[in-house]
Amino acid sequence: MLEDRTQPLLRVSALLKTFPGLTALDHLDLEVRSGEILALVGHNGSGKSTLMKILAGVYTADGGAFETAPGTELHFIHQDLALIEQLSAAENLALRSDEGAAGLSPYRERRIREHARELITRFGPEFDVTCPLHQLSPAQRAVVAISRAMDGWTHSRNVLFLDEPTESLHRSEVEVLFQAVRRLAAEGAGIVFVSHRLDEVWSLADRVVGLRDGQKVIDQPVVEMLETQLIEIVTGAPHEDAGADGTPASAAGDRALHVRGLSGGSVTNFDLDLHAGEIVGIAGTLGSGREAVPALLYGSMEADAEVFEAGETPLRRRTPATSLRHGITFVPADRGRLAVVRDFTARENLTLPHLAATTRAFAPIDSRAERAEAAGAFAEYEVRPARTEQRIALFSGGNQQKIVIARSMHRRPRVLLLDEPTQGVDVGAKSAIYTAVRRGAAAGTAVIVSSSDAKELATLCDRVLVMRDGEVGAELTGSQLTERAIVAEAYGLP
Ligand SMILES: Nc1ncnc2c1ncn2[C@@H]1O[C@H](COP(=O)(O)OP(=O)(O)OP(=O)(O)O)[C@@H](O)[C@H]1O
Ligand SMILES: [Mg+2]
Repeated sequence: MLEDRTQPLLRVSALLKTFPGLTALDHLDLEVRSGEILALVGHNGSGKSTLMKILAGVYTADGGAFETAPGTELHFIHQDLALIEQLSAAENLALRSDEGAAGLSPYRERRIREHARELITRFGPEFDVTCPLHQLSPAQRAVVAISRAMDGWTHSRNVLFLDEPTESLHRSEVEVLFQAVRRLAAEGAGIVFVSHRLDEVWSLADRVVGLRDGQKVIDQPVVEMLETQLIEIVTGAPHEDAGADGTPASAAGDRALHVRGLSGGSVTNFDLDLHAGEIVGIAGTLGSGREAVPALLYGSMEADAEVFEAGETPLRRRTPATSLRHGITFVPADRGRLAVVRDFTARENLTLPHLAATTRAFAPIDSRAERAEAAGAFAEYEVRPARTEQRIALFSGGNQQKIVIARSMHRRPRVLLLDEPTQGVDVGAKSAIYTAVRRGAAAGTAVIVSSSDAKELATLCDRVLVMRDGEVGAELTGSQLTERAIVAEAYGLP
């Protein structure tokens, strides 16, 4: 144990972790000091989550060691949140506290609910804490995970690890989280946060530790770093602007979707005319309806529409199956939970919705053709490692995401619905995804992008619909379409 108060709260020495055929952590040294916010950055698959999992006891290291100062506890918010879907927010939060001893009583239930409410309202608006977790939005689930990790600290000299905690949060929620994190650090905690968002690294971190292929390539105070330096670490390549490769595809083409009076969830009377080759953004704050639009168009969320036509074909009863049949595909934001079959290989996940196209009735699946196709998609989307036969659950979070996006893009759908397409992917992959979306649009796919990232929408889209209170509050095109204008319309600023 570390004794001296000037000593770090956590010291990691020569940590080694190998998986068959690859070294995920290569003799990593790291110190976390009291009061310090440390950003852990690196490309997808560089070993960030592996480090956290070893410290949390999920994985065992193959070499090296780590030690903590006396009394220092390590708390974690993992990339997949590690919540129990069937339980309510209140029950998930009670799992960590001492309340369990009191037995089941209406009194205890009320206490649990009140405690949960108290915790979550630190991060923003209250929601129903008795609702099962799988019915909550990504942001609400993240709030539960964060509240849980910060509940019940008996002293301040702990270390909190956050593995991409802001992935599903909106800008205003991110600020609340950052304030909480800064407060903890000011009280003496050590913070380690993983993020691919460089602006977050700039605004929050005191020090940056960069990983590349499991090795530490930089460990430096943030004030001494140049932005280009940081970008080079996370991409492993000299910096190119993710949005610099060409102008958005032009918006002329056949009708892809014609929708009138679409209502469902928090959205009312949504109208849309979408044409082949167009990239249309959906912006808005959390709760504006922005996050519901793709699922409503896809039919995975219950919706009514006065008119709904794919091309010239009216679709009456819409389900995900009928949507797919009419060339409408959807990549949800919550990819880990909704879009991946965890026990299948990456290749199987990649070809999953297309079995009908590669299979004749009663014929075996043509796995050689599939493999070639998967290898091509892996190269195009820079999936690492390039092992198409590995179980998808063993890929890093960002790489799973690239695979799901590749899957949807690959067969040139008529309409591609994307929800938060670049959350959690590194700068290099972001650029690859933008390129692929533009290429898809140029080939005739009509694309809808719902995103909380105004810069992303301004970069990628031909026009952007800004949602407010469940309706389209503004439509921005041409020279009006800027990051600033999107934010202003979303928040109703002058
Ligand atoms: N259980 C496992 N079995 C095999 N390989 C694994 C396993 N867990 C992780 N890996 C591999 O170890 C490497 C590091 O993965 P890790 O999840 O730590 O990356 P990361 O830096 O968190 O990436 P991301 O930014 O995409 O989340 C990757 O190549 C990943 O495929
Ligand atoms: Mg990770």
